Amino acid sequence: MKIAVLGSGKVGGTLGAKWARAGHEIKFGVRDPEEKRRRADPELASFNILYLTVAEAIRDADVILFAVPTSEVAGIIATHGSQLDYKILIDATNDFRADQMSKVKELVAAAPSAKVFRAFNSLGWENFEQPLFDGVPADLFYCGPKKGDASVTMQALIEEIGLRPIQIGDLDQVAIVDSIVRLWFSLAVDLGLGRHLAFKTLGI
Ligand SMILES: NC(=O)c1ccc[n+]([C@@H]2O[C@H](COP(=O)([O-])OP(=O)(O)OC[C@H]3O[C@@H](n4cnc5c(N)ncnc54)[C@H](OP(=O)(O)O)[C@@H]3O)[C@@H](O)[C@H]2O)c1
Repeated sequence: MKIAVLGSGKVGGTLGAKWARAGHEIKFGVRDPEEKRRRADPELASFNILYLTVAEAIRDADVILFAVPTSEVAGIIATHGSQLDYKILIDATNDFRADQMSKVKELVAAAPSAKVFRAFNSLGWENFEQPLFDGVPADLFYCGPKKGDASVTMQALIEEIGLRPIQIGDLDQVAIVDSIVRLWFSLAVDLGLGRHLAFKTLGI
């Protein structure tokens, strides 16, 4: 699968590297591709990873992950909106200061035929790097289209990170997914329990 990962920082870099190891073609969409190529992790040199501009990365992507600062999303949509349609779009961005934490509404408006998912936003990135707790995978709660190929793809992409996917529902459940990141912050940061902290649903 061809995956464009917009942002190669903590979230994008971690997820992109794992998907590359799982055999996907990863195109990081970044602001300065040359600098990123120079500083690329040598351990990932044998995998199918390219550092490109955002436009180049999304051109023939099947899946696009948004892992940029939330302030950047509107500009990317304004510039590349027409190229986002008909693809699987994953919004991992969190805007804690806005009424709506996610950009899913903006993505749906810009790309009405895209399959938009809200995922990878509800846990700190450390849990994407180390998803196992005593050998047990943490759960990742997400929402988006429940049927079709996109749903199967999304589930597989979560499993390839080492997490157990728990789909809460369609995109209308985004507020529930976003309430989980608030809980995660309260526990991990405000209460000081540490960032390698995730959730497990019992009984399923
Ligand atoms: N940190 C977490 O644990 C966590 C967990 C879940 C969700 N999130 C959300 O995920 C998003 C990314 O967070 P992060 O922690 O990964 O941030 P980060 O480490 O600062 O990485 C952000 C990346 O976005 C790139 N970037 C900035 N503007 C860009 C643009 N216009 N086009 C392309 N790339 C651009 C940056 O590139 P440069 O290197 O050139 O600056 C950097 O690689 C945020 O919205 C955050 O709220 C974070």
